[in-house]
Amino acid sequence: MSKPTLLQTIQVALGDRSYPVWIGRDLLDDAAHWRTALRGKHVLVISNRTVAPLYLQRIALGLDGLHWSSFLLDDGEAHKTFANVGLALEALGALGATRDACVIALGGGVVGDLAGFTAACWMRGIDFIQMPTTLLSMVDSSVGGKTGVNLPAGKNLVGAFHQPRAVLVDIGTLDSLPAREYRAGMAEVIKGAAIGDAPLFAWLEQHAAALAAREEQPLVQAIAAKVRYKAGVVARDETEQGERALLNLGHTFGHALETAGRYTALLHGEGVSIGMVLAAKLSERLGMSAAADTQRLQRLLQAIGLPTAIPAGFDPDHLLALMRLDKKHTASTLRLILWRGIGRAEIVSGVNEADVLAVLREASTRA
Ligand SMILES: NC(=O)c1ccc[n+]([C@@H]2O[C@H](COP(=O)([O-])OP(=O)(O)OC[C@H]3O[C@@H](n4cnc5c(N)ncnc54)[C@H](O)[C@@H]3O)[C@@H](O)[C@H]2O)c1
Repeated sequence: MSKPTLLQTIQVALGDRSYPVWIGRDLLDDAAHWRTALRGKHVLVISNRTVAPLYLQRIALGLDGLHWSSFLLDDGEAHKTFANVGLALEALGALGATRDACVIALGGGVVGDLAGFTAACWMRGIDFIQMPTTLLSMVDSSVGGKTGVNLPAGKNLVGAFHQPRAVLVDIGTLDSLPAREYRAGMAEVIKGAAIGDAPLFAWLEQHAAALAAREEQPLVQAIAAKVRYKAGVVARDETEQGERALLNLGHTFGHALETAGRYTALLHGEGVSIGMVLAAKLSERLGMSAAADTQRLQRLLQAIGLPTAIPAGFDPDHLLALMRLDKKHTASTLRLILWRGIGRAEIVSGVNEADVLAVLREASTRA
């Protein structure tokens, strides 16, 4: 076993609910460190049937001497359900969990969202620790306290803001992550830079080849930069009254693409990748930004191996109809996150649907 190495600590500043994001290698093995975030004697580890065989044993070693058990989901977005929250709560009940119990989320965003929501519900809110194992969950979903589950009526329709007590980013877990999932996570790093961090964007351009090759040193820097950026936004606007909404750059387009692809054609990060390019093209069409910025965004995404055009078989009119349903819209206008160029996203209301449709048509791949 190699020695755990803590490389960076980033604080999410939320007063008495502030918490650290620890980033390093083999941190799962450093129980002496992560156990400092536990307050009581009861722990429920929530994971899934893909991740648990890879990493649960290492957590188990660290939990020695405590009352703990595990609850494993089947793999996939389809299992982020209320029914599974119910079963996880019953597992807490069977454990005899008290108010100082802790839920540990070991897995990607699906596990993290469900585990966080379970922790928010048990006795009206107990501690939870995020141990993200996908790049997307490391740089995005595990930081900021959005938790929840899906309903048949739509994704993430039920949830709560509930901040973790700590986030443990063990980059060693990325060694087993499939390449496509890795690239999808990188889309979220690029998104943060595109929204509000132009110097980070330029740095990503310089290191795109190394990041595509998963070189450790630039990867740690990229993760830390995105976490730092998101931590700042969350600290300023925890419950999305304003600035935090900017993090949804590309999401309205992306969600429409994910839904049209029945959640199997595209990963979330891939939808965001195409969605950001569409948002940039729409901004350009509305005279808000320059073509050169759209091109830089496209080139960076492509250098990582991400898609930037609407795949063949997607109907622009159907996509527009799905965008109208997106929960980020008010009654009759399209409200979108657009940009003035790299690092300068903004919320724009009253966007003309004809402009959106024109962009969707232009970006569609002919079959
Ligand atoms: N709460 C938030 O702020 C927020 C933000 C963005 C996304 N999300 C949510 O996150 C979810 C997507 O998260 P995701 O992209 O991590 O997907 P995921 O949790 O489904 O993980 C992707 C795949 O990778 C596998 N996996 C995870 N870690 C692995 C590892 N180390 N080695 C090998 N395989 C591994 C998983 O089993 C799964 O098959 C969605 O439900 C989305 O709604 C939440």
